[in-house]
Amino acid sequence: MKKIFTHTALATALALSAGSAFAAVKVGFMLPYSGTYAKLGEAIENGFKLYVQEQGGKLAGQEVQYFKVDDESNPSKGPENANRLIKRDGVDILVGTVHSGVAMALAKAANDSDTTLIIPNAGADAITGPLCSKNVFRSSFSNWQPGYAMGAVAAENGDKTAVTISWNYAAGKESTDGFKESFEKAGGKVVKHLTLPFPNVEFQPLLTEIASLKPDAVYTFFAGGGAVKFVQDYAAAGLKDSIPLYGAGFLTDGTLEAQGASAQGLQTALHYADGLDTPRDNKFREDYIKNFPQLPPDVYAVQGYDAAQMLEAGLKAVDGDISKKDAMRDAIRSAKIDSPRGEFTLSKAGNPVQDMYLRKVEGDKNQFVKIAVEKLADPARGCKL
Ligand code: PHB
Repeated sequence: MKKIFTHTALATALALSAGSAFAAVKVGFMLPYSGTYAKLGEAIENGFKLYVQEQGGKLAGQEVQYFKVDDESNPSKGPENANRLIKRDGVDILVGTVHSGVAMALAKAANDSDTTLIIPNAGADAITGPLCSKNVFRSSFSNWQPGYAMGAVAAENGDKTAVTISWNYAAGKESTDGFKESFEKAGGKVVKHLTLPFPNVEFQPLLTEIASLKPDAVYTFFAGGGAVKFVQDYAAAGLKDSIPLYGAGFLTDGTLEAQGASAQGLQTALHYADGLDTPRDNKFREDYIKNFPQLPPDVYAVQGYDAAQMLEAGLKAVDGDISKKDAMRDAIRSAKIDSPRGEFTLSKAGNPVQDMYLRKVEGDKNQFVKIAVEKLADPARGCKL
């Protein structure tokens, strides 16, 4: 007699014969593998895979199958790249991306297709603000968070005036806005906001302007290859010793080897630091260095690692049955993540509530100085969840 299987029954039968209750979980990485953020994408993928490997190659008993697309940090290609993973590859979970503009397109595609999205970097405030959504989570930060923490520290340091400088897209705008908010609340004044288009690195005219404005301090958002060049140019322009340069910690994370002497002493704020010296972080760093000896265990690696932990928390709650989307998402939202950065929970909007550290560059380390702001939650302005 001819047997007729439903689609699901057939998939289940196949998976059962492979020794697991369900088919492998399909994870789609949409990350930059080229351009100024290429190293960041690589570190995120490494971190994610490291966590899965530590669990014996499975999450909550499920095999993991990987797909990937290079998004080139190009927002205009965002919808097409997202749909390669969603429609062509049929992934269950999206993990992406680094660039806030690309992440906006990715979040829209995830919402339209009701796909679960874990953002392992991009801080676009809107994604966990007015556009917040039950299927979207971050293992990283909102752009507001490090900026807000650094503004508070600058005011504590006694600085009264500051110039902010960044690329003119969401991340730069929101990071410097966060700085301005806490700095001005404490009595400081941002006298000028300077920008250039992403991913340009023609910093010279802007550095000349900073020299003539003579603020007490400069706050910046740059990352990846652009951050390497900015820190080098700032020092070469002779500004490093006269006007303290602060940043969201991306300025010096994963970049110190290339920045060398020009980065020494810089103070930045971020949700990760070198020298936390906790058993959890030490174990992560040891495993990471063993697996990826050429790369520093940086914030991006941690965010990738924690994206895998978040997915695992969701999968555990549904015994690996990813068709139970609501229950899986509820479990992710209420999870406590045992991160190398320190334990964190997620806000209602799906963004980490986490300590923001002040770090200072010493040698090849972003050395932990102190907790700048404890358990900082993004205000999630406009989120209606
Ligand atoms: C962003 O576009 O949100 C972004 C990019 C790189 C970073 C941090 C934030 O290091």
